[in-house]
Amino acid sequence: MKLPSRIVLLAWFLIFALASLTGQQKWVIGMSQCNLGEPWRVQMNADIRKAAAENPALTVIFKDAQNDTLKQRAHVEEFVNARVNLLIISPKEAAPLTAPVADAFRKGIPVVVLDRRVLGNEYTCFIGADNKRIGQAAGRWIAAKLGDRGQVVELKGLMTSTPGQDRHSGFVEGIRGTGIEVIFEADMKWLEPNARKEMESALAVHKKIDLVYAHNDPGAHGAYLAAKAVGRDKEMLFVGIDALPQEGQMYVRQGIVAASFEYPTGGREAVDSAVRILGGKRVPKEVTLPSRVFTSENIDKGGEWLDIKAAGK
Ligand code: FRU
Repeated sequence: MKLPSRIVLLAWFLIFALASLTGQQKWVIGMSQCNLGEPWRVQMNADIRKAAAENPALTVIFKDAQNDTLKQRAHVEEFVNARVNLLIISPKEAAPLTAPVADAFRKGIPVVVLDRRVLGNEYTCFIGADNKRIGQAAGRWIAAKLGDRGQVVELKGLMTSTPGQDRHSGFVEGIRGTGIEVIFEADMKWLEPNARKEMESALAVHKKIDLVYAHNDPGAHGAYLAAKAVGRDKEMLFVGIDALPQEGQMYVRQGIVAASFEYPTGGREAVDSAVRILGGKRVPKEVTLPSRVFTSENIDKGGEWLDIKAAGK
């Protein structure tokens, strides 16, 4: 054996011996974030970073796909090629990210899917709040607020992502049997500028709008800005989802949004699950995070938890 390869071998031996002596095994987690354009995703990364910083064995490498599905596919492949110990992914869209996630999983890399789903079940676990339940709760809250009748605009999240689909179908269930009428609906793809534009169209066509149900708080805020620009913001209510303290909850305090439904980022829970998986422990395939609703009446008391039993679960 030539000298350099002996030295390399010795170095590896020393690293492993040291790691086992100190018990300091190092884990590298790849985190594939679909975009960082909205405060909610910045918060998710911050939650992951904070939770991971509490565990010296963890290093997290973040990649931001900037809302580009192809870029996110490439990021997942890069993490697989780099042989990260575990992958956390918050996928932009379900179908196109399914194959790369399944590929990582089949190659033995545990995958924690966070917030938006992929199709099938080739991943280690999914963590997120129940979007269908949130949509239902929003529908019921809106029906009660409007006295079971009224004209509503629905500004949907990206309909190729599962939260958009579930927040819509849940809402439809929530208003079923009432006199609530959805007079305008559009896919604003989670983005405030799109929501504003779609709302301008809704305002141009409809002389009476009682409420805007937006699938996230940026959407509700975009709709509010459009209505305010034509002096119609006081005619209607705005409801959103996410309820970050610095966003939705602030809009509730400012009287811009009538209700915001919490959608926790799950960042800390993802790191907790990752640590369990890396430690060889089993984790549940599905972790459902709880959610609260914030309104002007309950915000000072910390909001109100959604009743899971009311959803028939
Ligand atoms: C951010 C976001 C949130 C929303 C979540 C759904 O990109 O649009 O506002 O709740 O994604 O996945």
